[in-house]
Amino acid sequence: MLIESMRDIGYSLETALADIIDNSITAKARSIRLLADTTSAQPSLAILDDGEGMSEDELLAAMRPGSRNPLETRDKEDLGRFGLGLKTASFSQCRKLTVASRKDGVTSCARWDLDKVAQTNQWLVELLDDQSSVPWIDELGSSGTLVVWETLDRLVEGDASDARSAFVSRIDEASEHLELVFHRFLAGERGIKKIALELNGRALEPFDPFHSTHPATQAGPVEKIKSGGQEVEVQAFTLPHHKKDPEGWERYAGKAGYLKNQGFYVYRGKRLIIHGTWFGLARQKELTKLARVRIDMPNGMDAEWKIDVKKASAQPPGHPQKPLAFGAMI
Ligand SMILES: Nc1ncnc2c1ncn2[C@@H]1O[C@H](COP(=O)(O)OP(=O)(O)O)[C@@H](O)[C@H]1O
Ligand SMILES: [Mg+2]
Repeated sequence: MLIESMRDIGYSLETALADIIDNSITAKARSIRLLADTTSAQPSLAILDDGEGMSEDELLAAMRPGSRNPLETRDKEDLGRFGLGLKTASFSQCRKLTVASRKDGVTSCARWDLDKVAQTNQWLVELLDDQSSVPWIDELGSSGTLVVWETLDRLVEGDASDARSAFVSRIDEASEHLELVFHRFLAGERGIKKIALELNGRALEPFDPFHSTHPATQAGPVEKIKSGGQEVEVQAFTLPHHKKDPEGWERYAGKAGYLKNQGFYVYRGKRLIIHGTWFGLARQKELTKLARVRIDMPNGMDAEWKIDVKKASAQPPGHPQKPLAFGAMI
């Protein structure tokens, strides 16, 4: 019952994928590949990285819900938090989660199959000795981790061909969202390792919501604000007016448009958590529609910012309003 209810904590495909990618980045991956089988009778989706990988013991610990204490201090590059993401994000999309990982030349593989858990009424994670049936297992490099989602009951409903094509467009939409959430990792910047992210062989491109390299973009000074012994960096941008950048106008509006995409863009460890909200401090007005304010916070401020399990909502410290869900997709 607990696992079944964990499925419904409100992940979308994009927030679920982002949570799995966070794990790959924390494991120091440089290349992360999304692999989607959209044509076979049993569609599946996988996230493959070339990070440090896990030993069998580490893998078993990782498969356990609540594998890390949320109160423990994490490395500043660690994008994780609750020790839940791998499981909750995966089960929000699939009923069968297989994780294969290679470290020090040893490949370990474990699986949660919710149908088996339900049948046997036992929390049994399977260790797979025979890994040959795991999709994409041959793609694992000298070290790294492969997360495979099968029985995608929430993504592909039925086996009609329109269910398949809906699946393809959901994945495409999600990949656009990832180009925003991880844009700083995709572009590379001082203090973080650049990553390459691809979907079925197509490289994802960074989408910089501040259009910061355009000469008509106005960037304010970087302000540092101390809060609870930690430092938050804030920088305001005004995007180019239509006349100054007719070619980029549509693209930088984003799907939701300038009006809805104005506001704060909150990054935790350089990864975008929430965007397009003024947190109730101001209204989204036509006059300010080109304003986007970047807030950079370290991962040690999760409690103050009320970061949720899905890493899709946040709330500024000392602010009484209810947390806002991730705004409309850009
Ligand atoms: N791709 C990966 N590479 C290496 N280790 C991983 C990977 N994914 C998950 N792990 C390990 O599994 C643990 C649990 O992951 P997760 O459930 O997402 O929780 P969290 O990220 O909050 O720690 C991580 O702390 C990490 O040790
Ligand atoms: Mg995680």
